Amino acid sequence: MAKLSMISPSIIMLFFFHFSTTPATCKNNETDLQALLAFKNAIDHDPMDVVNSWNETLPFCSWKGILCSKRHQDRVVSIDLMSRGLTGSLSSHIGNLSLLRYITLQNNSFHGQIPEEIGRLRRLEQIEFSNNSFSGEIPRNLSQCRHLYYLNLIDNDLISELGSLIELEALGLSRNRLSGTITPFI
Ligand SMILES: *[C@@H]1O[C@H](CO)[C@@H](O)[C@H](O)[C@H]1NC(C)=O
Ligand SMILES: *[C@@H]1O[C@H](CO)[C@@H](O)[C@H](O)[C@H]1NC(C)=O
Ligand SMILES: *[C@@H]1O[C@H](CO)[C@@H](O)[C@H](O)[C@H]1NC(C)=O
Ligand SMILES: *[C@@H]1O[C@H](CO)[C@@H](O)[C@H](O)[C@H]1NC(C)=O
Ligand SMILES: *[C@@H]1O[C@H](CO)[C@@H](O)[C@H](O)[C@H]1NC(C)=O
Ligand SMILES: *[C@@H]1O[C@H](CO)[C@@H](O)[C@H](O)[C@H]1NC(C)=O
Repeated sequence: MAKLSMISPSIIMLFFFHFSTTPATCKNNETDLQALLAFKNAIDHDPMDVVNSWNETLPFCSWKGILCSKRHQDRVVSIDLMSRGLTGSLSSHIGNLSLLRYITLQNNSFHGQIPEEIGRLRRLEQIEFSNNSFSGEIPRNLSQCRHLYYLNLIDNDLISELGSLIELEALGLSRNRLSGTITPFI
């Protein structure tokens, strides 16, 4: 206790100053961080140690496959995990990455449903999920992604009616068991 009282106020000030000036760009947005950790948790098999290397030693913007916004430097805009041999499901937390624009999971073994929450991603432009094992329905909520212009779901096990998807310029839905009609607009 006696020792503690001898630390000079100026050292304490310096200590405080040092930490209070850490640039905001080094911080992780907590929501995006939790979403990526949930994404990692839903992966059962990662033979190339890609998501296994995602830990808080590094800010998530430096994690493999993750790109952040230039303007909002603690927010995720792209996830690119093509051909990484990943097996697992896609966490519904994906819907919390509110600035996400591109997601590429092509040529892995993702199974289960594509979570409906993906429809919350207002800025989403490209979904590349070809050559996985996604099953169930294509979420109707995708129609809420007004900027989505590329959607590739080739080689999955989806069985769905497709709602009206707006602004789709490239649409890869073949080799799924689709029923229903694709809107004439598309
Ligand atoms: C993370 O970003 C979201 C969306 O902009 C914002 O609502 C939230 O407050 C941010 N969280 C933190 C801890 O900065
Ligand atoms: C954290 O990730 C880095 C690479 O991103 C790796 O070198 C390090 O071993 C990891 N640490 C733990 C505890 O997994
Ligand atoms: C698909 O991913 C596997 C690794 O899981 C890789 O060996 C293979 O070359 C990839 N195929 C293509 C066409 O990229
Ligand atoms: C993110 O999404 C999940 C499931 O979709 C939800 O349970 C969670 O509370 C959401 N919010 C945050 C801030 O992580
Ligand atoms: C599809 O996945 C299988 C099994 O992982 C792989 O062998 C094949 O190369 C992939 N094809 C394409 C076009 O990615
Ligand atoms: C579906 O999308 C709407 C509009 O973006 C959103 O408010 C809603 O939360 C989404 N539903 C789910 C289950 O995430």
